[in-house]
Amino acid sequence: VATASGAPDPFLGCLAAAGVPPRLLHTPSSPSYAALLLSSVRNLRYVAPSTPRPLAIVAAAEPAHAQAAVRCGRRHGVHVRVRSGGHDYEGLSYASLDPRERFAVLDLAALRDVRVDAARAEAWAGSGATLGEVYYAVGAASRALAFPAGVCPTVGVGGHLSGGGFGTLMRRYGLAADNVLDAVLVDADGRLLNRTTMGEDLFWAIRGGGGESFGVVLSWKLRLVRVPETVTVFTVRRSINQSASHLITKWQQIAPALPRDLILRVVVQNRHAQFQALFLGRCSRLLRIMRAHFPDLGVTQPDCEEISWIQSTVYFAFYSSSKPLELLLDRSGETGRYVKAKSDYVQEPVPRHVWESAWSWLEKPEAGLLILDPYGGRMGSISPSATPFPHRKGNLYNLQYYSFWFDNGTAALEKRMSWVRGLYSEMEPYVSKNPRTGYVNYRDLDLGTNELAGNVTSYAKARIWGEKYFKGNFERLAAVKGMVDPDDFFHNEQSIPPLPLPA
Ligand code: FDA
Repeated sequence: VATASGAPDPFLGCLAAAGVPPRLLHTPSSPSYAALLLSSVRNLRYVAPSTPRPLAIVAAAEPAHAQAAVRCGRRHGVHVRVRSGGHDYEGLSYASLDPRERFAVLDLAALRDVRVDAARAEAWAGSGATLGEVYYAVGAASRALAFPAGVCPTVGVGGHLSGGGFGTLMRRYGLAADNVLDAVLVDADGRLLNRTTMGEDLFWAIRGGGGESFGVVLSWKLRLVRVPETVTVFTVRRSINQSASHLITKWQQIAPALPRDLILRVVVQNRHAQFQALFLGRCSRLLRIMRAHFPDLGVTQPDCEEISWIQSTVYFAFYSSSKPLELLLDRSGETGRYVKAKSDYVQEPVPRHVWESAWSWLEKPEAGLLILDPYGGRMGSISPSATPFPHRKGNLYNLQYYSFWFDNGTAALEKRMSWVRGLYSEMEPYVSKNPRTGYVNYRDLDLGTNELAGNVTSYAKARIWGEKYFKGNFERLAAVKGMVDPDDFFHNEQSIPPLPLPA
């Protein structure tokens, strides 16, 4: 196996000697390289011609290939970036910001078996599976079981679970990471470990601390949760003229306090607020709850659709419950987009006048959208240190600022980026403080990036962004990193730095 220049590359030679078949090694000179690199990319900002590209893509087909990538990478000074679904907002699974970095992408897309044991209400899912593939397999096994995770079906299990993962069932069952029972991981020495052999500290860290700092998670054992065979969904749209500002203002206190069987999220775009609900029960009961808690929204019987939970995943992803379930298996999703996102946690209701002035931002031609996901319910009763994900009690909702565009010009990029950054900056007085927190799965490099201190990532520098994602859990994450990867093999622009063990 050779590099683009034809010279034998010791890293690739090592992989071949370790038994990785050449057909799974893709270098820039392979005809398959460009298409494979792009296959799961969800943000074209990180595949620009100027972005440093991997010297190889290792398309692992079995655990031994991932072990070989880690061992050979360490031996030959090649950094390994792990990619499951490729949805990282800042491209960290396939791109580097450092032109000097020699790195390979370890692509896990082929490791995507999902095996459901309906009788035990458990499943094993490969990291390369998408959420849609997990939902489809669970739904096929039982109408009364579900898995609580994100809304977009093309998101990869590997990145999503290792960063937390929330969706329409979180108020009832918490995060995806809260429902992980076991995991199989390749550590920095290339060993294959499970929960028992990795120990509880490392098992804690990979359920919300970002897997990429600790190893390569190959598969996850999931606790499936009970749902009624019939659930109810609705979407109601209210425009500025239909008192959208008033409704959003009220929603901020109502939604986090609703019964935990109900989630009512809001997407704000152009001149509208779209209220989307999933209720684990029938329409008649949902209407009673809405009348009691939020009569101003005016939800009525014709707004309701009674469907199965698996159909509800299609409903939230594709805005229609009548589309075929097989769409959940489509891994292609929405590619071809440039993306910038940021996030906040809101702990006190944002005053109405702020929402009224937000419309001037949302009506701009370069505007993106806002997604408001209410917490409360189960999210508020899990301790902030149970997993690295600290945003529990006291958070009303997660606020995401999301912009996407299709034009590859610099002018479009600058306008879109400054829209997201401008609105984020304007919201500062109204969101969490000291630190202003964000969600690691909505990766945002504006919060800070790593610097080296000697050969390893500086703890002092990393704290700047790290405490925004992890608050008090950051130090424990760094201590775990110090135990399991003191040489900092698994690093990227926002990886956890190793905290040296006290002498
Ligand atoms: P990707 O493969 O890019 O990995 C993301 C990060 O995790 C990288 O740093 C990577 O190295 C690391 N990683 C990936 N696999 C690993 C493994 N097996 N072992 C160790 N490290 C690994 N979130 C949410 O909570 N709820 C939601 O509803 C949504 N919706 C949503 C929609 C869309 C369109 C996008 C683009 C993103 C979301 N997200 C989300 C955010 C999503 O959860 C987040 O981007 C995940 O990290 C994506 O995981 P992937 O495996 O797809 O990403």
